Amino acid sequence: MKPIIIANWKMNPENLEEAENIFELIKKEIKDIKKAEVIICPPFVYLSPVASDIGELSLGAQNIFFEEKGAYTGEISPKMVKDLGCKYAIIGHSERRKYFNETDEIVNKKIKAALEADLIPIFCVGETEEERKSDKTEEVVKRQIERGLEGIQVLRGLIIAYEPIWAIGTGNPCSVEEAKKMGLFIRNFSPEGIPVLYGGSVNSSNSAGYVKEAKMNGLLVGGASLIPDEFIEIVKSIIE
Ligand code: PGA
Repeated sequence: MKPIIIANWKMNPENLEEAENIFELIKKEIKDIKKAEVIICPPFVYLSPVASDIGELSLGAQNIFFEEKGAYTGEISPKMVKDLGCKYAIIGHSERRKYFNETDEIVNKKIKAALEADLIPIFCVGETEEERKSDKTEEVVKRQIERGLEGIQVLRGLIIAYEPIWAIGTGNPCSVEEAKKMGLFIRNFSPEGIPVLYGGSVNSSNSAGYVKEAKMNGLLVGGASLIPDEFIEIVKSIIE
């Protein structure tokens, strides 16, 4: 399995020109890299402008709604992003759970809708700082995965991203040992063969450890994915 590296731009950058610039710089450097699957997840409004020429990159949406169409002001359907060229959709990111009240049940509906539209869900799970301190990490992650995948039989094409919330955007990454332990834990009760990625304060100095030592199948990168040189270093660090 090729390592998977996902760039989650979140609500960045501030304008299309910058977005195209970052995309082009990454695309140029990635064109000779065949040993990794590199997926860029820009905000929805930048998908269309970059989609006409993605080179070796793949595109993903940062979110989708679970209904196919209808009176849902402000929402975007799985098929809409699929039509724009997305192959993947991030679902259940902790920022969606926290700021938009996404529950495990909503996440479950979104995963089903994504699979239905032939999108590969990048299903995010992870514990809060308090849950970690009270030794609930495994319980929480297991519950999120079981509920998120409830009633789903065919699991062709699904990615799980373990993203401890206390490590996201904090500059306080999870240790390689802890990531390794959680990777094994998740694989133990998840459908076989599903890639498990790590995300949370990944940069070019810690990236290799998660893949080479912790044996994660790849990385979900936030902040560092907006800095082309740094992001390319991350990609290179895990394939070289
Ligand atoms: P970060 O974000 O790399 O900025 O910590 C990761 C994520 O939220 O996916």
